[in-house]
Amino acid sequence: MSFIEETRRRRTFAIISHPDAGKTTMTEKLLLYGGAIQLAGTVKGRKSARHATSDWMEMEKSRGISVTSSVMQYPYKGRMVNLLDTPGHADFSEDTYRTLTAVDSALMVIDAAKGVEERTIKLMEVCRLRDTPIMTFVNKMDREGRDPIELLDEVEEVLKIQCAPITWPIGSGKRFRGVYHLRRDAVHLYDPEEGGKKSTGEIIEGLDNPRLDEVLGPQAGELREELELVQGASHAFDPEAYLSGAQTPVFFGSAINNFGIEELLDDFVEYAPGPLPRPTHSRKVEPTEEKFTGFVFKIQANMDPNHRDRIAFMRICSGTFDKGAKLRHVRIGRDVKIPDALTFLASDREHVETAYPGDIIGIHNHGTIRIGDTFTQGEDLTFTGVPNFAPELFRRAQLKDPLKMKQLAKGLQELCEEGATQLYRPLTNNDLILGAVGVLQFEVVAERLRTEYKVEAQFENVNVQTARWVESDDPKKFDEFKEKAATNLAIDHGGDLVYIAPTRVNLQMAQEKWPEIRFQSTREHG
Ligand code: G4P
Repeated sequence: MSFIEETRRRRTFAIISHPDAGKTTMTEKLLLYGGAIQLAGTVKGRKSARHATSDWMEMEKSRGISVTSSVMQYPYKGRMVNLLDTPGHADFSEDTYRTLTAVDSALMVIDAAKGVEERTIKLMEVCRLRDTPIMTFVNKMDREGRDPIELLDEVEEVLKIQCAPITWPIGSGKRFRGVYHLRRDAVHLYDPEEGGKKSTGEIIEGLDNPRLDEVLGPQAGELREELELVQGASHAFDPEAYLSGAQTPVFFGSAINNFGIEELLDDFVEYAPGPLPRPTHSRKVEPTEEKFTGFVFKIQANMDPNHRDRIAFMRICSGTFDKGAKLRHVRIGRDVKIPDALTFLASDREHVETAYPGDIIGIHNHGTIRIGDTFTQGEDLTFTGVPNFAPELFRRAQLKDPLKMKQLAKGLQELCEEGATQLYRPLTNNDLILGAVGVLQFEVVAERLRTEYKVEAQFENVNVQTARWVESDDPKKFDEFKEKAATNLAIDHGGDLVYIAPTRVNLQMAQEKWPEIRFQSTREHG
């Protein structure tokens, strides 16, 4: 297969959902349908990420597990699918946000009984930053769910995206009988299959087929009536609108029973975008360009806890990566040989021979790689769009042994350079303030300081509620601001100026008082 063909057949995506909607189950089933695993239930690290810190620590300690399931590559009907996993626990949502910058599309899983939930809303906001195309799977139809029309209304209203039903459910819970495929005009009867078997339910062609009445009884008439209503009121599938992020095709099913997934996957590989062009500071990079480019979107601890070696996950944007290639690490301006990159074929780590645009490779990081870093074959360009998100929680680092201040500062600086947490040093005192999106992050940092830097530190409350990166086009005003607001200013680990506010009201007042200053809640890496 040529380079262009290999590139075009890539489909790189992530699942977004609220915890419990069925992301893990869906991941297993997608692998099952892709033939990557014989028996579902083998997705490792299941749930451990979302229960307790101790679980998470254990998982991180036995390292590798999470690395292995972070990216799963498998072939499906001639395409090559890369599924990027995201942590289930909301405290690691920073990681999820950045993973979403490395995909070309997303799959949203919604619980039919619960509808649109809070985390889904947040993740949709992140997808919207890049107009990521989204397909929707309404899961758990085998349980009593809400009225599907009402569910779609909710998606349209809350998530501000048009819904185009592709399949339509026939009943729910005990009355769930299958789905009707609107475009194919065929009914797929529900035939629950557990574990590793694919659904083999009967397919009935045509909505008017008398066989439908035979099997469904009065539910056949109800279905026809409902569909008339649905087709009149909903949007027809428009691939362009889907690709621009304005419309989401919707499928119904039951992941646990292997039902409704094949319909979704078939359309997914058909319509979801292949590798998309990516913006850099200087120009747009097309995936079909022959020279290699890629960026790092995630850094994760590696197998051996005794080494500070970590895996940097790089999304390939153009060209091929061949084993042993030499690449320019643009931020530090050095060419480095990458002898032992990892790929993630069939949910197992393997050493890569050749990887293509859309693929993710894992490279060993000995402390020089940061999130957002670009690698090229010599060209001096930097990918944009891998943002830092302003943290929502703040703690002051407190040392048990005051003589270890230097190690603490070094450890925090390095851990924050990985990107999951932010370090702030106020201009007017010597505090070290850590900002994170979730509270578990503080425990993870404390644990890593202890094991990797031999520093015992605690994190205590600090009077900071929110932070904004600040900048201005007016140097005079900016200097005045820096002087007058000094007690609220800090430098982050990247050397940028940040306004740290004790309350939201304080932030608002500062914004009103200083209209010439921009207060940013996201910032590009690099
Ligand atoms: P998550 O990763 O999004 O958090 O969800 P996960 O797949 O772990 O699913 C959450 C729960 O919902 C699990 O039950 C799972 O078995 C169940 N589930 C997933 N898909 C379906 C479905 O189509 N129908 C029904 N009825 N249930 C579904 P659990 O009891 O929390 O866990 P487990 O003991 O089954 O592992």
